[in-house]
Amino acid sequence: MASIIEGERSYARSRGLAEKAEQLIPGGHHLSGRPLLVGEDCPQYMARGVGARCWDVDGNEYLDYIGAYGPFLLGYANERVDAAACAQLQRGNLLSLNHPLHVEFAERLLSRFPGADMTVFMKTGSEATTAALRIARKLTGKRRVVRCGYHGWHDWCLPLEPFVPSGLAEQVLELNVADPGSLEVLLSSAPNEFAAVVVAPEMILPTRASVFHDLLNTAHKHGAVFVLDEVKTALRIKPGSFQRHVGIVPDMTTLSKALGNGWPIAAVVGKREVMSCAAGMHLSGTYHGETAAMAAALATLDFVDEHPVAEHVWALGERLIDGLNAAAAQHQIPAIAFGEPLPPMPFLKFTITNAAVNERVKAAFYRESFKRGVLLHPRHLWFISYAHTAEDIDRTLSVAEYAFAVARRELEAHPE
Ligand SMILES: Cc1ncc(COP(=O)(O)O)c(C=O)c1O
Repeated sequence: MASIIEGERSYARSRGLAEKAEQLIPGGHHLSGRPLLVGEDCPQYMARGVGARCWDVDGNEYLDYIGAYGPFLLGYANERVDAAACAQLQRGNLLSLNHPLHVEFAERLLSRFPGADMTVFMKTGSEATTAALRIARKLTGKRRVVRCGYHGWHDWCLPLEPFVPSGLAEQVLELNVADPGSLEVLLSSAPNEFAAVVVAPEMILPTRASVFHDLLNTAHKHGAVFVLDEVKTALRIKPGSFQRHVGIVPDMTTLSKALGNGWPIAAVVGKREVMSCAAGMHLSGTYHGETAAMAAALATLDFVDEHPVAEHVWALGERLIDGLNAAAAQHQIPAIAFGEPLPPMPFLKFTITNAAVNERVKAAFYRESFKRGVLLHPRHLWFISYAHTAEDIDRTLSVAEYAFAVARRELEAHPE
């Protein structure tokens, strides 16, 4: 890696591609997002990634904490996972009938989730959460749902904007994440009309086990199926899932992201009495039975069974959070690092009261981080991978020292 005290970087090729993309791709971004730093030069196009590192199209190297938004729990281009997928590709990755891997994958996956007896597999987290809702609707004969967090891009997951079908406002209620106890009020507002409560656990604070037991019990009291959306947290949170962390058994769980370590795979796992009603339902997708991603997922499961992955990312997350808080305090920057909500998914929040000054100081911090080869997301939680090392964290903290110093100068130039 280039020195952490290097000078300016060029992002010219990123800029050139972004200008072309503006004409070809609505919004210019495949994740319907914005550049990391809005309105200024920053890395926008990546060329390759290995382990915890990636390189942009201008040849700049980064220690990467964005991790493509979550799939790369083992790091980019994990040799064992990718070799398993590539070997499977050679055999024809999608065939005309069922494949033995479907059964093997189902058995292996279910063995990790106590209380889950059956699974359906698909390709994306959005598909998995939508399928879980549909199964819950069929099982209960009800339509309404309470959701909490980001569950994907399908109609029922979106804010109510003019482009989603009418009627959703009545069918889909959102739980106030700061007040999980309000679930009782929501479900009581239309007794016996709710099919499901779908919760992305990273949204709920505090992460105390009793809060999740209460959510599950409240859903059941009102005849609703409890779905835990572990698309981000499965395999990542010690001892291997959020539900085991807090000791609950959801009726259904949705999975994706880390499951294939970069290969597209998703699943719903759940109790037999819930999942069996999915038999004969139309949950079909041409690519759902694709086997290269399934081979990748099996290799990922082997890897996490043999290595202390969740413990490692937890410990490194704590090290990063503690170090960032110490550095922010030392440079007198109003900012707080925290697990969002748990250490393997850390974030740094700038808390200057004047919003304009906050944005300037924050941009100064991230600009400097990129320049010194650390890719942190200014607006989205970060992901630590098993490929990150304690030395990587310490290097990141050295870069943060510089970045906080630059941020401090920005704050002094534009006081609140
Ligand atoms: C908790 C959760 N559920 C569902 C999804 C949707 O997954 P996908 O983007 O694969 O459709 C995401 C994606 O970030 C997520 O974090």
